[in-house]
Amino acid sequence: MAYLKPDKPEKVYVPALQAAKEKGEKLACLTAYDYPTARIVDEAGVDIILVGDSMGNVIHGYGNTIPVSMDEILSATKAVKRGSSRALLVADMPYGSYHTGDNEAVRNALTLMKYGGAEAVKLEGGRNRVDLVKRLVDEEIPVVAHVGLTPQSVHKLGGYRVQAKTAETAQTLIEDAKLLEDAGAFAIVLELVPREIAAIVTKELMIPTIGIGAGRECDIQVLVLHDLIGFTFGRQPRFVRQYANVSEVITKAITEWMSDVRNGNYPGEGESYALPDDVQLGEIKAATQS
Ligand code: KIV
Repeated sequence: MAYLKPDKPEKVYVPALQAAKEKGEKLACLTAYDYPTARIVDEAGVDIILVGDSMGNVIHGYGNTIPVSMDEILSATKAVKRGSSRALLVADMPYGSYHTGDNEAVRNALTLMKYGGAEAVKLEGGRNRVDLVKRLVDEEIPVVAHVGLTPQSVHKLGGYRVQAKTAETAQTLIEDAKLLEDAGAFAIVLELVPREIAAIVTKELMIPTIGIGAGRECDIQVLVLHDLIGFTFGRQPRFVRQYANVSEVITKAITEWMSDVRNGNYPGEGESYALPDDVQLGEIKAATQS
């Protein structure tokens, strides 16, 4: 008997990213923080799902990523794991989870993999993270690095601004990216850097670059799902292309439902349950009245 080929494309593992870069194939990465969005993103065929600490902004309303905890990332990673089967699952290491020593960082990364189901972790920083990346890789933990705008440094940076705009800072970023590659990172996020600099990094590194606000030369593009579908508040950065307005869809649905409730049009008969035929309503009424 011939076995049917599954209609889903193959599961994405870490080496697939390198292979795609070598073939010149672009990949897509989106964030997800819960089961339903993970299912939608995975079933749509996105290659990488990032349980990003951007959850601090988009689902917890913290205003930045600093307060995001290990518990929040772990719980979200578990839910995303349950909702996805094909995409490579990367979990962000939240602020404070890798800053107090390498052993603690390894423990937290292992927790995300062992109990969360993450297949890799991501952490922010340049040359200051090289030793940590080496250590994590030694402990069989695949690492995605993240340079350019590193939102966990928002207070130090003084806001969310384009990075590596001068010859000197661009040079530093390019060197950092190379050092992180040498340390064993298997991919590197370039956030909010000029497209010309992202193009240089993409060309000079063997590992794939994952761009956000870094131009089209990056090997992989990542966006925050909620930005892409219009489920956020306030002004969006220039690199966000909004493909839907989910906030509007939700508001319209809620407004119509409220109106139906207030006009007595919800629930209809088909949206409620009748007594079984063999139960006499008269008997129940008589019993309650007596
Ligand atoms: O937390 C996140 O969503 C990220 C991406 C923006 C790369 O780090």
